[in-house]
Amino acid sequence: MRLFFILLLLNLILWIDGQSGNFPDCKSGPLSFFPICNQSLPSRERAADLISRMTTIEKISQTITTADSIPRLGLPKYEWWSEALHGLAFSPGVFFGGDLPSASSFPMPINLGATFNMNLVHRIASIISTEARAFNNDGRAGLTFFTPNINIFRDPRWGRGQETPGEDPFLTSQYVYALIQGLQRGHDERYLKIAANCKHFDAYDLENWNGTDRHHFNAKVTDQDLVETYLPSFKSCIKDAQVASIMCSYNSINGIPACAHKFLLETIARESFHLNGFVVSDCNAISDILHAHRYTSSVEDTVAVALHAGTDLECGVFYLFHMNTALNRKKIVEADIDQALMRTFDVLIRLGWFDPPEQQIYRKLNKNNVDTLEARQLSLISAQESIVLLKNINKILPLNLNQLMNKKIALIGPTADATVTMQGIYHGRAPFLIDPITGFKNVTAGNFIDIQYARGCGISSHNEKDFAAAIKLAQSSDIVFFFGGIDNTIEREGTDRKTITLPDVQLALIQQLEKVSRSPLHVVIMSGGGIDLSYIRNSTQCGSLIWMGYPGQSGGLAVATVVFGQYNPAGRLPVTLYPASYVNAVSMFDMQMRPSSTNPGRTYKFYTGQPVYEFGYGLSYTTFNYTYNNNTFKSFVSMQSLLKNIEKEDHTIISSIRINVTNTGDMDGDDVVLAYVTPPTINNGSIVPFKQLFGFERIHLKQNETKEVFFPFTIAAALTIAENASKWIHPGLYHIIIGQQRMFSITLEGESIQWA
Ligand SMILES: *[C@@H]1O[C@H](CO)[C@@H](O)[C@H](O)[C@H]1NC(C)=O
Ligand SMILES: *[C@@H]1O[C@H](CO)[C@@H](O)[C@H](O)[C@H]1NC(C)=O
Ligand SMILES: *[C@@H]1O[C@H](CO)[C@@H](O)[C@H](O)[C@H]1NC(C)=O
Ligand SMILES: *[C@@H]1O[C@H](CO)[C@@H](O)[C@H](O)[C@H]1NC(C)=O
Ligand SMILES: *[C@@H]1O[C@H](CO)[C@@H](O)[C@H](O)[C@H]1NC(C)=O
Ligand SMILES: *[C@@H]1O[C@H](CO)[C@@H](O)[C@H](O)[C@H]1NC(C)=O
Ligand SMILES: *[C@@H]1O[C@H](CO)[C@@H](O)[C@H](O)[C@H]1NC(C)=O
Ligand SMILES: *[C@@H]1O[C@H](CO)[C@@H](O)[C@H](O)[C@H]1NC(C)=O
Ligand SMILES: *[C@@H]1O[C@H](CO)[C@@H](O)[C@H](O)[C@H]1NC(C)=O
Ligand SMILES: *[C@@H]1O[C@H](CO)[C@@H](O)[C@H](O)[C@H]1NC(C)=O
Repeated sequence: MRLFFILLLLNLILWIDGQSGNFPDCKSGPLSFFPICNQSLPSRERAADLISRMTTIEKISQTITTADSIPRLGLPKYEWWSEALHGLAFSPGVFFGGDLPSASSFPMPINLGATFNMNLVHRIASIISTEARAFNNDGRAGLTFFTPNINIFRDPRWGRGQETPGEDPFLTSQYVYALIQGLQRGHDERYLKIAANCKHFDAYDLENWNGTDRHHFNAKVTDQDLVETYLPSFKSCIKDAQVASIMCSYNSINGIPACAHKFLLETIARESFHLNGFVVSDCNAISDILHAHRYTSSVEDTVAVALHAGTDLECGVFYLFHMNTALNRKKIVEADIDQALMRTFDVLIRLGWFDPPEQQIYRKLNKNNVDTLEARQLSLISAQESIVLLKNINKILPLNLNQLMNKKIALIGPTADATVTMQGIYHGRAPFLIDPITGFKNVTAGNFIDIQYARGCGISSHNEKDFAAAIKLAQSSDIVFFFGGIDNTIEREGTDRKTITLPDVQLALIQQLEKVSRSPLHVVIMSGGGIDLSYIRNSTQCGSLIWMGYPGQSGGLAVATVVFGQYNPAGRLPVTLYPASYVNAVSMFDMQMRPSSTNPGRTYKFYTGQPVYEFGYGLSYTTFNYTYNNNTFKSFVSMQSLLKNIEKEDHTIISSIRINVTNTGDMDGDDVVLAYVTPPTINNGSIVPFKQLFGFERIHLKQNETKEVFFPFTIAAALTIAENASKWIHPGLYHIIIGQQRMFSITLEGESIQWA
């Protein structure tokens, strides 16, 4: 943290005194004579030549994220660390101001998970990369972004789970693929639009728990969990989406610090997933190898172990201070540094950094491409699509504007006036922030409805002094909303929650409001991580319950349009909501997904208890009916026929699942159709998931409209991961569940096949 501020300060100074030198001068500067500026050469040759012209000390200056300029060669300084998790975000590389005072602030990734709409994710990512280029062209951002976070939201206590799309490896894989396409690929296929970074590799999902923080944590991960849960999102990011970089994490994995983990970085990321780009360390993680993990005993060994594992770039200053020592003591050779710089400069070249601006469309983007009407609409729509309706007794929602004339609506609670809170963490400066009160006033404008607000209580402080005013307001109101939840005082980077209950003070206020409210109370929850909402679910005095995540700049307007029925909600929970007792049932340190004597199992796949609300849950104002026609459906498949597939392609279709979805209710709306498979239990094999997601689609249906959705049931969906991480297709009965209904059965006949 302290390092962060020093770097920030350092950057501010560098930025003020050197703003003009954003791009290398390939026209008239010293570089223009070198192959680095020759576009007809392959990027690796261009990089190699530039590196060969640097002295050793100059090379070392380029191994950290705040890379210094090399005036002798005409190379400008470059800050590798910019952030854009859900919009351009505060970071050492990003500066808001001048013509670019703000950038679009989209909902947090946990909300994007709840939309189950990957086309939307792609469009958001395209806008983020466009705005990033506009900032870069104005000297206000880099081109390399340490975004996204694709660790699995394993435990509800994790403070950074909000940065991810949730607990499911399949959903996270789909999310990251769509996101990386939108960030890195635009209309000019010759260049990366921006360079993204998948983090944190790997098995990072703990901040600080019971006295052990992320810098010291050793994640004990079985091979089975690694292959089944902790690697798929990275495979999707690196191999399928071809991300330009990944970040090694703070923690150790089975005793080896991630940034020193040659097997993970070299064998898995580079050799198996074909990483075409660089590995950057998390900030200060190299120092942690020595000082926190005590994995090494000298600075030079630490440099060597990280560099040899494949950590090419450091966020921090350890390489800067100690790489020369490692060279002098012969722990590394100069070629090790050259290889690291090859990988980083190659990415800068692929970004067009050294190429003439005239021929690059991305270099023409400017303030007119930031905070556009399209971006504003998309941020509202994505917030609307992410809202999850959890409870709606007697169709109490939506409220009918026409029946509310001269009525008084009370908005009570600590998140009713939330602004920056709606941005979650890793955010920037939004062009505006529409809090729920403003949203309600907007949607009800002209209808003579009196919207009144009382805070009632804070997020978690035990102070009840504002209860009385809130209760008085509730007594005099026709309809009462409680806006609660949590915020970054409780869940954030560096801080995991200790409990997953709604803070006591909020529950106490809810119970008092229930007593005085003239009509059933409405509850709206803002949070990233799951909260035990069973009291609200159970209470007959609570009529409706909405989860709104951290919905970004237009979040308050989005929730108001849901409440008053201008938008029909269809978000689905991207995480399991566990009962409060969950935190006592399993250690935060336990990385195992499958249940054991000290673990009730994690996520919808393995949790053996009764969730408060399950993964995938979410209501609509309309109803949908699923019908199918099994004439074309193959319900018996011989294993032998699968083997005919010589390449052993994961995407080979075993059977095609088609269903018709009909909107049978009285309102237009979206439906998220989720397709799960329950694999057969093999005689003596390990525990199989209750079910696992293999397909999903969000469709819009007008009243009475029917659409067909198609889910290929592929080899990938049928694979079972054995305890030793080998992949198998077993014979037996596979049940296909669509939404909540078990609909199809497929029998695979023959002998088990080991898959590549
Ligand atoms: C750039 O590289 C190409 C291919 O090697 C070469 O033919 C050309 O002469 C080079 N251009 C300059 C200006 O050096
Ligand atoms: C938490 O730390 C205490 C004190 O070190 C220890 O006794 C306890 O076993 C730890 N709990 C878990 C679940 O690790
Ligand atoms: C409601 O919000 C929209 C979008 O932000 C804005 O254009 C409109 O002027 C607002 N209307 C009122 C009455 O506040
Ligand atoms: C909610 O209801 C369930 C089942 O009826 C019960 O087991 C649970 O204790 C109740 N929880 C709360 C907080 O009221
Ligand atoms: C839904 O479809 C089933 C056939 O799968 C049919 O029996 C049922 O009547 C339909 N329900 C409604 C409400 O249309
Ligand atoms: C869906 O409905 C269309 C039109 O009625 C029909 O042609 C098609 O076979 C149906 N598909 C399924 C899977 O039932
Ligand atoms: C189609 O469904 C019917 C009724 O559910 C069932 O009896 C039949 O076996 C199914 N056919 C196939 C090919 O699965
Ligand atoms: C079944 O268990 C035996 C003995 O533990 C083992 O050798 C064999 O590989 C197991 N088979 C499967 C399919 O897991
Ligand atoms: C939907 O179908 C029902 C029953 O057929 C009909 O009464 C209703 O008017 C239809 N609604 C629309 C919007 O077409
Ligand atoms: C892995 O386990 C499976 C059974 O689950 C067994 O058949 C296979 O031989 C094992 N592979 C290795 C390399 O041990």
